Amino acid sequence: MKPAGEVATAREDRSTASDASGAGRKESTVGQPFVGNPRMTCRGVNVYYSQTHAVRDVSLDIGRNQVIAMIGPSGCGKSTFIRCFNRMNDTIEGCRVSGKILLDGQDIYARNVDVVPLRAQVGMVFQKPNPFPKSIYDNVAYGPKIHGLARTRSELDEIVETSLRKAGLWEEVKDQLSHPGTSLSGGQQQRLCIARTIAVGPEVILMDEPCSALDPIATGKIEELIDDLRRQYSIVIVTHSMQQAARVSQRTAYFHLGDLIEVGHTEQVFTAPRHKLTQDYITGRFG
Ligand SMILES: Nc1ncnc2c1ncn2[C@@H]1O[C@H](COP(=O)(O)OP(=O)(O)OP(=O)(O)O)[C@@H](O)[C@H]1O
Ligand SMILES: [Mg+2]
Repeated sequence: MKPAGEVATAREDRSTASDASGAGRKESTVGQPFVGNPRMTCRGVNVYYSQTHAVRDVSLDIGRNQVIAMIGPSGCGKSTFIRCFNRMNDTIEGCRVSGKILLDGQDIYARNVDVVPLRAQVGMVFQKPNPFPKSIYDNVAYGPKIHGLARTRSELDEIVETSLRKAGLWEEVKDQLSHPGTSLSGGQQQRLCIARTIAVGPEVILMDEPCSALDPIATGKIEELIDDLRRQYSIVIVTHSMQQAARVSQRTAYFHLGDLIEVGHTEQVFTAPRHKLTQDYITGRFG
């Protein structure tokens, strides 16, 4: 049964709702988009690419020390939405974002916000591993150097080692730190990219289909790693694999045509979805 109170909460916060798409009525979000003491808060977020209204009035919280999975059919706005969290959409010509997004209570779209430290606080791991054309060591050391996080070479060495350990890669690469990052396997490269993200001390890690280029064994390692990392970070993962979402996340958000349809505890969303569109998607009738 749908607890009426939760749905009302979701709708109340939609006070600034505006559907400028002209593409039909907006779907209200069902479930539990909000959490206590959130790490990040989105309210009434809209994203447009010229005439395309790609994300429609989305309100959602990102909790601390947990993984939230974003699922939904291709083109529903998952990547566009998570790119709002560290202002990666700023780099896309013609892309416009409205609404409020807060990180620890601070508006990340405020005029005085410098996106360089923001993107360290809210790091991103992409679909295809993209190590820099540098050594394994320098891939991880690059960010801390840029951000002035180490005063001495030994401090930098320590950050590199700790980050590689947290990314579950240290034992595999400790004797070849000077080798190019691109010499590693795909799964190792993805863990190197995760180490690179961790090295600059993020609070949130965004992962957009981080395993889609990996085999099942490499995927399993990344999934274990995600489970470890959530002890320290908030993680947002976009995935097309419902099994993966079920394995790694505590909350799941289902998107459809730019609307956030449903959010809830992962188990509930997969076993007892409240919205018909969610049900159609998870049972394979759509997408
Ligand atoms: N750079 C861009 N310029 C113009 N339109 C874009 C751009 N990126 C995305 N879109 C449009 O925005 C909508 C949402 O796209 P988005 O890539 O966010 O979807 P997605 O859910 O991540 O899809 P997928 O699962 O295929 O990765 C789509 O209609 C897409 O065509
Ligand atoms: Mg995408």
